[in-house]
Amino acid sequence: MKKIVIAIDGYSGTGKSSTAKQVAAGLGYTYIDSGAMYRAVTYFFLQEGIDFSDDNQVNNSLKNCNISFDGPSIFLNGEDVDHQIRTMKVNQNVSQVSAISEVRKKLVEQQRRMGEAKGVVMDGRDIGTIVFPKAELKVFMTADMDVRAERRRKELAKKGIKEDLETIKANLEKRDKIDSTRADSPLKKADDAKEIDTSHLTLNQQIDKIVEMAESIIYEG
Ligand code: DC
Repeated sequence: MKKIVIAIDGYSGTGKSSTAKQVAAGLGYTYIDSGAMYRAVTYFFLQEGIDFSDDNQVNNSLKNCNISFDGPSIFLNGEDVDHQIRTMKVNQNVSQVSAISEVRKKLVEQQRRMGEAKGVVMDGRDIGTIVFPKAELKVFMTADMDVRAERRRKELAKKGIKEDLETIKANLEKRDKIDSTRADSPLKKADDAKEIDTSHLTLNQQIDKIVEMAESIIYEG
């Protein structure tokens, strides 16, 4: 059966990751959370006390930063960092780190290698535009800010992290701005991406829509 690459981009809190994960499971594909990779680098820099604005520090430190996946879990230099990369501290710094070209270069190379064999669903901000511009299916997800903030609040609460809605909203707005205005690979919809507004969709509806789109490409020949 034909294998394809599915690129899912969009703003934070639109349900990209949960959707992408389930779409991959439904199709028997590998799910790759590219945002987790930027988060892992951010966590590493914070641990190492790296000054993000110092190119030398950034480049030297990147050499010692090894990211890998084992199923859905992400490892930083062999340590499982699934939980450590989801804190507000990382949320507050990840957009600055992901605007650094050297960081993007390293991670995009690794992402392309992971997608070489196809049969992958990758979500992020530049997957359909930069990482896999030839992906067979590109989806761009949006949702109202209030819906996105409430989703993020619930997600954090599930992990035992209490954060008020206004702080979350302010963080999302700030990240949207940095992500979509940065010079290198800004967040934007690829011309050939299908846009899905998830404000009034359930997770299952989002998943079904994308699986349907994927299957029509996979079985069309
Ligand atoms: O999807 P997320 O919220 O976990 O992503 C965290 C940050 O990483 C987000 O603010 C922007 C950045 N990112 C990126 O620049 N490019 C990607 N492909 C994925 C994420």
